[in-house]
Amino acid sequence: MRVAIVFHSLSGNTRRVAELLAGRLAPLVDGTDLVEVHDLHQYSTLTAYMTGAPRAMRGEAAAIDPAEIDVTAYDVIVFGTPVWAFAPTPAMNGAVAALSGAEGKEAVVFVTSGGGPRSAAERLGSALQQRGARVRGAVHFDRKEIESEARLAELVALVTRPPSAD
Ligand SMILES: Cc1cc2nc3c(=O)[nH]c(=O)nc-3n(C[C@H](O)[C@H](O)[C@H](O)COP(=O)(O)O)c2cc1C
Repeated sequence: MRVAIVFHSLSGNTRRVAELLAGRLAPLVDGTDLVEVHDLHQYSTLTAYMTGAPRAMRGEAAAIDPAEIDVTAYDVIVFGTPVWAFAPTPAMNGAVAALSGAEGKEAVVFVTSGGGPRSAAERLGSALQQRGARVRGAVHFDRKEIESEARLAELVALVTRPPSAD
């Protein structure tokens, strides 16, 4: 089984979870690739709140690097996003728009937040479903417990679960 972990991170929390997950998966799967998505608009913390958060709230998709994310070679695709204004980031929306080969793929979502994610994970999950992915579930990491063993174990279990039969 091959896994892609596609993530966006401004201040490092989501990257940390992505890296920990890749480490946990290493002995369990055939290969894991980390795909970090960068917003071509470079935000400072201030501009992220001033302009990034409203864009996130509106569900806008940013231009990103890489411009295309081909997931054909993977069995499970994991998407990790910070929560901005109770929503996935514009870069994460851009990553969903940039997907190719997502039709019929099994997908898992994780979000990191300051404690108030509201429906950010559901919004990302439904965007992935619209691209044809089958979303297994989502895990939320509060930034105060970014290295939580319990949350990480939940995430590993979702990723390594056998595919659904239908
Ligand atoms: C622009 C902006 C908006 C945010 N909005 C929320 C929010 O609506 N709810 C919340 O719980 N945390 C919010 N946060 C906190 C981040 O979700 C949290 O710090 C996250 O772990 C950051 O991930 P990162 O370090 O990978 O960038 C926001 C942070 C930023 C920069």
